[in-house]
Amino acid sequence: MAEDWDIIPFLREVVGSEAERRAGFTGEGGDSRAMDYRTIKRAYAILSPVYDFLFDKIFHPGRVAAINLLEINPGDHVLEVGVGTGLNLPLYPSHCKVTGIDISEEMLRKARERVQALGLTHVSLGVMDGSNLEFPNDSFDHVVATYVISAVPDPVKTLMEMRRVCKPSGHLVILNHFKSENPVIGAVEEMLAPLCTRIGFKTDLKLKPLLERVSLAPEQLYRVNLMNGWRLVRCINPQ
Ligand SMILES: C[S@@+](CC[C@H](N)C(=O)[O-])C[C@H]1O[C@@H](n2cnc3c(N)ncnc32)[C@H](O)[C@@H]1O
Repeated sequence: MAEDWDIIPFLREVVGSEAERRAGFTGEGGDSRAMDYRTIKRAYAILSPVYDFLFDKIFHPGRVAAINLLEINPGDHVLEVGVGTGLNLPLYPSHCKVTGIDISEEMLRKARERVQALGLTHVSLGVMDGSNLEFPNDSFDHVVATYVISAVPDPVKTLMEMRRVCKPSGHLVILNHFKSENPVIGAVEEMLAPLCTRIGFKTDLKLKPLLERVSLAPEQLYRVNLMNGWRLVRCINPQ
């Protein structure tokens, strides 16, 4: 096990472009390349028992704001990508249908327990890769990902998939920490990136180039959570 953590699979994938590395899509200097599926699954298998203890209260304001920003109408169908332990699930109105997917069986087990305990009959859950969604085009009224886009191996492909399965004019809501524009903080985030990728998230992902890459423009943009350190973005899915 310890040996697996030490193996950084630099040579595993086709090398991404320099621009992509600089934007944090595939990692800078090769470190984020360690964010492959095995790393992610292992990280969240380890985190799952303590995830709620660590990340419930501190990230709660952003969660409430993100679900509100979806502007869910009765009967709407929402897809939550990277649903994790399901901390957002009690925040959805019961008049909508929610589908939550995640790559981690262990995180989903916690979400299932929550659904069962709270009797959330409007929620269904499944194991799925956010960058390869098993849904037809235009399946959902809204698609949301909270604290996920820097935790997936391929943020661009994941956002493209979110776009594909969202109906035209539907809301795409992303809540995440992105690399700071402050040079000092940005440098610290870059320093921390190799460590953070090993525990399941990137600190060096940049918002603007990421959205440009998937042809999305922020319709609403807020700063939320502790020290306004997280960004909440709503995009309208183009036609
Ligand atoms: C930091 S947690 C966020 C969980 C939840 N969205 C929340 O707000 O608490 C990141 C989640 O993304 C999931 N994840 C990472 N890569 C994924 C992928 N390719 N497809 C689906 N889920 C993924 C992880 O398993 C983990 O549950």
